[in-house]
Amino acid sequence: MAVSSLPPVQIGVESADCCIIGSSPVVQRIAQLVQQIGPTDAPVLISGASGTGKGLVARTVHLSSRRRERPLVTVRCAGVEESLLENELFGREAAAPTGTPHNRCGPIELAEGGTLFLDQVSDIPLGVQARLLRVLEDGCYRPAGSTREVRADVRMLAATNRPLEREVGAGRFREGLYYRLNVMTIELPLLQEHPEDIPELVEHFLRTRPVGSTPHRIQPDVLEALVRYDWPGNVRELAKVLERAQMLASDHLITLDALPQGILQVMAAPASKSASPRHLREVERRHVLEVLQGEKWNKLRAANALGISRRALYRLIEKYGLENNTLGGCLEPQKDRRLKDHCPSEGAATVRNRTGEVKPGNRRCAL
Ligand SMILES: Nc1ncnc2c1ncn2[C@@H]1O[C@H](COP(=O)(O)OP(=O)(O)OP(=O)(O)O)[C@@H](O)[C@H]1O
Ligand SMILES: [Mg+2]
Repeated sequence: MAVSSLPPVQIGVESADCCIIGSSPVVQRIAQLVQQIGPTDAPVLISGASGTGKGLVARTVHLSSRRRERPLVTVRCAGVEESLLENELFGREAAAPTGTPHNRCGPIELAEGGTLFLDQVSDIPLGVQARLLRVLEDGCYRPAGSTREVRADVRMLAATNRPLEREVGAGRFREGLYYRLNVMTIELPLLQEHPEDIPELVEHFLRTRPVGSTPHRIQPDVLEALVRYDWPGNVRELAKVLERAQMLASDHLITLDALPQGILQVMAAPASKSASPRHLREVERRHVLEVLQGEKWNKLRAANALGISRRALYRLIEKYGLENNTLGGCLEPQKDRRLKDHCPSEGAATVRNRTGEVKPGNRRCAL
């Protein structure tokens, strides 16, 4: 059977770059979830805004599963016409004019024994969703032009940057498929929700994505600007800014001149103004913590007192990394402390590579 790589389909595991970086409670919780969920065969729904690391998490889940030696096949579902997506996803079995079967492998078949990653799953048309649901429920599908059912041994991962519940409500996403995909969910935070990870991410990107052969250093006021900026493009934007800054740096030292105007404006703004969104989050965090403590960590009572569902409360607990020994404090000093304490040469920890081999000396990798 001929194997072809088709336009919206990306095949293979990108080997580099599979470290989830960050010591904040919310990123640690994600890393822990990946470790727990990875080895299972359950579908996983990964949600988060653009650039928050959905693709990275999908690769990491695959690499921590028993399927890691088999392919990870990514299908980018956004903007692909229904018939094209259907044809490509499920493959085609057709008779050539000579009568010789001329088959085309779809990604489901290419991912046999491995993982199928449906990126931007909310863009999949309803008809294709029904067929995918069958793969999840019965483990089989019928390629175009075929009379036989094909069994599929794939684990499904899906990513979305739109809340799927809302898509279900609007009739654009099948409820059945939503519930099948939503067995395990990983919600990725905006970078502005864990600014304390920025120094670690900066160091990671300068080390793993260097421009030129001499490593770049960074001035403390640059790091401060990066921590204070709000990052609408999330971690991807940070990586791009650092790539550009390395190109513009003189003598391999990144100074404020190498940053885009938008980030420099943050430094010019009064601290209280730029800090206000975080201040709001801090108010929310403290309030949730106080209610939880007031209710002696009884989640049902705390959720009732806050006027939200228990699920929403669990999300807030996860978002702010709250535990019943959490002290009421402010996020800002913690962020500042991280900025001050951050030293690339200190705190060397172990890092495990793709094959599970442990290498000393790198900062840290959760997996
Ligand atoms: N916690 C993290 N640690 C290290 N690198 C990260 C982290 N989060 C994201 N990245 C890096 O940021 C970039 C963007 O991540 P990724 O492509 O996975 O985002 P995404 O959520 O899939 O975005 P989109 O919705 O636009 O597809 C990648 O280079 C990824 O490796
Ligand atoms: Mg992506």
